[in-house]
Amino acid sequence: MSALTTPGGPYRAAADRYDNLAYRRAGTSGLDLPAFSFGLWQKFGTDYPHETRRDIVLHAFDLGITHFDNANRYGPPHRAAEKFFGQVLRTDLAAHRDELILSTKAGNPIGPSPYQRGGSRKSLLTSLDHSLRDLGTDHVDIFYSHSPDPSTPLEETVGALASAVTSGKALYVGISNYPAELAHEAAVLLRGAGVPLLVHQPRYSLFDRRPERDGLIEVAARDGFGLVVYSPLAQGLLTDKYLTGTVPESARAQNSSFLSPDVIDDTYRTRATALNQLARERGQSLAQLALQWVLRLPQVTSALIGASTTWQLDHNVRALDFPPLTEEELALMDRYGVHGTAVQV
Ligand SMILES: NC(=O)c1ccc[n+]([C@@H]2O[C@H](COP(=O)([O-])OP(=O)(O)OC[C@H]3O[C@@H](n4cnc5c(N)ncnc54)[C@H](OP(=O)(O)O)[C@@H]3O)[C@@H](O)[C@H]2O)c1
Repeated sequence: MSALTTPGGPYRAAADRYDNLAYRRAGTSGLDLPAFSFGLWQKFGTDYPHETRRDIVLHAFDLGITHFDNANRYGPPHRAAEKFFGQVLRTDLAAHRDELILSTKAGNPIGPSPYQRGGSRKSLLTSLDHSLRDLGTDHVDIFYSHSPDPSTPLEETVGALASAVTSGKALYVGISNYPAELAHEAAVLLRGAGVPLLVHQPRYSLFDRRPERDGLIEVAARDGFGLVVYSPLAQGLLTDKYLTGTVPESARAQNSSFLSPDVIDDTYRTRATALNQLARERGQSLAQLALQWVLRLPQVTSALIGASTTWQLDHNVRALDFPPLTEEELALMDRYGVHGTAVQV
């Protein structure tokens, strides 16, 4: 793979960028997504250097990652990650816009106004317009309702998603963080509106097994939508970086309000160490094992990963290069991959 000639220098996309990854069909749609999608939730705000963020995004594209996941909230400050991506789109990726699947989300709070939160038509469609402005594009590929909003009729939220497509501002729609039953209801309403639900974005990892427990995986298969699963590494807990008990200086548990070092306790370490041991016996890392595990299910279209270095990307996208997991290995992973380990569920 030919990466950037000089970090920070002019970008020329790697000619072999489509030779690295598998592309998987999203549910019963006609759209393929890369097995690994890249998200700009953490370390893509203005508090990290532009060139570092740019190198990571362009490296991801060079690896064949065509799907970039954003939200109006991502920063800090809110909207900063989309503004950053818009700059990179303009300076480096403009010629490749047609090769990109850009997603954004709205509905989680981003400000004090009642129209900067929730699933109302006003909140969702205003935010979409702002995202298009910040990204510098006339449409996103996937527009998501970020979370269910029990105070707004589901019909209104779903109607706003459908409008995004009929107005040409989005090609497809998704939902995120919806429990299984509500996801089914949304899928039915969207089908009725002639805008099938493309994907659902739930959290799913060896330490958060809610999509198995609440039936979301079966609902996805039945209703024909794909799952783009976020935090498959439990924000880094399913890597070997926290096993020694010392939290590395640059790690998320040290510098993000979303991951407290307090969760790194003996129970976590015992389970993660056992999983790490299995990974080593298979000749891979714990990160690669954890990613291979979420992608074992055909309903999981893509593992939505984050990365703070290009090394992490190179390493993680090799997760599918290893032999399939055996029944015995899966049973061992069930034993140590306990729902609720170190993550709030
Ligand atoms: N829909 C939603 O509500 C929602 C919520 C959360 C996330 N998301 C999406 O999902 C994306 C991914 O979430 P995530 O970042 O939590 O995913 P993740 O893949 O579970 O965690 C990624 C982090 O783990 C660490 N890491 C990755 N590979 C590593 C390796 N090989 N060795 C050691 N450390 C490694 C890095 O953090 P450090 O190096 O900084 O420690 C990296 O940023 C987000 O960007 C966002 O797009 C969506």
